[in-house]
Amino acid sequence: MHKNVLKLMGLMLLIAACAGPKSPQDRLTVNDKKIDKIIEQMTLEEKVEMLHSKTNMSSAGVPRLGIADMNYADGPFGIREEGVPNGFTPAGWKLDSATYFPTGSALAATWSKDLAYLYGTGMGKEARLRGKDIILGPAVNIQRLPVGGRTYEYLSEDPILSAALSLNYTLGVQDQGTAVCIKHFAVNNQETNRGSVDAQVDERTLREIYLKPFESAIVKGGAMSVMPAYNRVNGDYCSENEHLLNEILRGEWGFKGYTLSDWGGTHSTMGAMLHGLNVQMTGSSYLGKPVIDSINTGALTEDLVDEKVRQILRVRFAIEPVPADVANTEMTSKPEQQQIAYKVAQRSIVLLKNQGNVLPLSKNVKKIAVIGQNAVLKTQSGGMGAGVKALYEITPLQGIQKRAGDAVEVVYAPGYKNFAGRRWGPAAANPNPLVATAIDEPADPDLLAEAVAAAKDADVVIFFGGTNKNIETEGSDRQNIKLPTGQEEVVAALYEANHNLVSVLISGGPCDLQVLEQYSPAIVQGWWNGTEGGTALAEVLFGDIAPSGKLPFTFPVKLEDSPAYAMGNFPNAAPTGGDLFTEQYRRDVIGGSAPQQGDRRAARPVPVSKYTEGSLVGYRWFDTKNVPVMYAFGHGLSYVDFTYGPMKVKSGKKVVTVTFDLTNTGSMEADEVVQLYVRRIDSKVEWPYKELKAFDRVTLGAGETKTVTLEIPAEDLRYWNVDTNSWTLEHGKLELLLGSASDDIRQKADATI
Ligand code: BGC
Repeated sequence: MHKNVLKLMGLMLLIAACAGPKSPQDRLTVNDKKIDKIIEQMTLEEKVEMLHSKTNMSSAGVPRLGIADMNYADGPFGIREEGVPNGFTPAGWKLDSATYFPTGSALAATWSKDLAYLYGTGMGKEARLRGKDIILGPAVNIQRLPVGGRTYEYLSEDPILSAALSLNYTLGVQDQGTAVCIKHFAVNNQETNRGSVDAQVDERTLREIYLKPFESAIVKGGAMSVMPAYNRVNGDYCSENEHLLNEILRGEWGFKGYTLSDWGGTHSTMGAMLHGLNVQMTGSSYLGKPVIDSINTGALTEDLVDEKVRQILRVRFAIEPVPADVANTEMTSKPEQQQIAYKVAQRSIVLLKNQGNVLPLSKNVKKIAVIGQNAVLKTQSGGMGAGVKALYEITPLQGIQKRAGDAVEVVYAPGYKNFAGRRWGPAAANPNPLVATAIDEPADPDLLAEAVAAAKDADVVIFFGGTNKNIETEGSDRQNIKLPTGQEEVVAALYEANHNLVSVLISGGPCDLQVLEQYSPAIVQGWWNGTEGGTALAEVLFGDIAPSGKLPFTFPVKLEDSPAYAMGNFPNAAPTGGDLFTEQYRRDVIGGSAPQQGDRRAARPVPVSKYTEGSLVGYRWFDTKNVPVMYAFGHGLSYVDFTYGPMKVKSGKKVVTVTFDLTNTGSMEADEVVQLYVRRIDSKVEWPYKELKAFDRVTLGAGETKTVTLEIPAEDLRYWNVDTNSWTLEHGKLELLLGSASDDIRQKADATI
C-alpha cells in the first residue's frame, strides 16, 4: 500500500480514537445532540416534571416523547422489596424476593476488589430483573464513629480501601446496564441530627479522607448518579452545596450525570436549582411548580432547567429501560447471585482471636452448645431503609446444624433477650419473654440458667453476641458500643461452665470487647453476612476453609479512645429529636399527618459537628497518638501462618512498585490480605503516622510461595495543598511498611519519590 495512504489511515484511526469518550464520564455525553433535539420539543412543564419524584421510587420521563421514567431501587446490599407507589409500605409482591448480599462492612472485610466487582454485577443483574434503572448505592461514607448508625452499610474507616471497593462495586453494577447512585455525598458520618447537622471539616481532610471513595467511583468508574446527603457541609446543605456539587463534582471531577436528593433532603428551590441538584426526592414542593414560578419572575432561567434535564436524559439514554412486560416476571434472587453472596461471606469472616487454637473445632467434638439469639435472628431487614426481603437466609444456627450433620449434636439456647428497638405503636398486651424493652436490660436469670446448663455438658460452646438492626440503624447512632441486654454476664457464666468457648459477633460495627475478651479464648467477627452467611460461618468454624477477612475498621478498647470522642467532637449537641426520614417512615408505618417540614426545621438552631481530628480517622489516630486498641485495622488471623520475604522496591515517576515473596507455611489452602502502609520521613507537611496505600488478597495452597506485586500510584501519595488549592506531590523519603495488619508489620523498606 502506498505510504501516504497508510499515513492517512493512521491519522484517521487517531482522529477516531480521539473522538471517542475521553473518560468514563464522557461516555454519558455521546447522545447530547439527540438529547438537545428532544429538549427543544419539550414544554417547560414537561421539563419540570423530571426534576422531582413521580412516585416514592421513580422520577418522570417524557411520556409524550416515549421517554421512560427512571426507576430506583434501594441498595446497597440487595434490591429492596417493592413498596407502594407513595411510600415504603411493602406492596406485597410475590416475585420481589432478592438476594441478600453481605452488608457494607462485611464486603469491606474481604479487602477484595474482585469480589466488590462481582457483588456489583449481582446487584446490577437483580435490579434489571426488577425493572430498575438505578441502584441507590453503593453507600461509601467513611466510618468516622464506632457508634455510627450506618457503619454496617458503609465500607471502611480508610479512604484507600473504601475507594477501591466503591470503584469496583460501581463498575460491576454499571457493566450490567444498571446505573449506581453513589451515596451519601458527602461527610455523612453520623445519624444524630443527620437532617440538619453541619459537618465542619477542613479542606485537606475533606479531599484526602471523606471525598476519596466518591472521587474514584465517579472519575474512574463513571458513576452516573450521585445522592447528596441529608447533612450540611461547611455551612450548606449537601443538596445545595456549591462547593461539593458544582465546583468539585461537576467542575473538577467532570461529572456528567445527575444528582437526586436523599429522601426529604431537598431544602429550597433557589438553593437546589443554583447549586447543583437535579431531582428532588421525594415530593415536588421545591423542584415542582416553584421552579416554573421562579422562571416566570425571572429569578431562574429555562436554560438552567434545560441543563438539568440534559443531565438526567444522559443517564436515561445510557441505561436501557426494561420493558414493563419483561420486568418482574421472574423471582429476583437467582442462584448465580446467591453464589456471589456466599463467596463474599466466606472471605469476610474475621478471626479476631484464637487462643489455644480452639478453632477450627476439633474433629472429636460430639456436642455443640450454640448460645445467643443472634444465632437465629435474621438480619436481612431492619435498620430502616437498607434491607432486603431475602428469598432465603441461612442463619448461623442453621449453618452449624447443616455442617454438623447427624454425627454431632447441636443444642441451642437463646441466652439473652433481644432488644427489639424503640416502639412507635402502642405497647404489646403480652410482651414476648425473649424480647428486651431496654438495650441495657440485665441478663434474664431463667435464660441464663438454661444457657449455662446447655454449656456444661457440651464439648464446645459457641456464643453468638453482638448487636442487631434495631441497635445499629439508619436514623440514629448507638449511645455506646457496649454489648446489649446482659450479653457480658452471659458470656462470663458460660465460660465458668465451659472453658472451651468461642464467641461470634454478629454486628455491622465494632463492639466494646473488654469483658468478652476475658472470657472468650476465641473470637470471630461474623457480620450481617447475607443469604449464605450461616453456611460460610460454619465452614470457617469447622475448618473447611481458613478465615481470611480483615477488619475494615478499628475496634477501640473503649469508645472514648476513638478520635471524635477523644477530641470532644462527638457527641456534639443534644439531639433535636426529629429526623426527617424517621418521621416520614413512621407516618408510613403507623399513619398520621405530615409534619410542617419547613417551619419545624427553620425554628431550630443548626447543630454543628466539628471535625478537628482532621485526617486522624480510625487507625490514623490510634497510631499517631499511640493509643492502644482492642483489635487493629486490618487485623484478622488465619488457620495457617504466612511468611513475608523482603521487599524489592522500584520507585518510578508514576508508581512505586513493591515485590516480595509470600509463603503459606500451613497445611491448608488459605488467603492472605497483604497490606502496604507508607510513613513519611522528614516531610514538611503533617501526616498521620502511617497510611494504607496498597493491598491485595492472595490465595496460597499449603506450603505454596507466590511473588506478590503491589503498586502505589504516585497520585495516591499527593496531599491536598490548601495554599495552591490543588493536589501536590512532595518529593522525598518514605518508609514502606508491609504486613498482615496495621499492627503487624513484617517488612520495612525505604523509597524515594
Ligand atoms: C436513606 C437513603 C435511601 C433513601 C430511600 C433515605 O432515608 O438515607 O440511603 O436510599 O432513604 O429509601
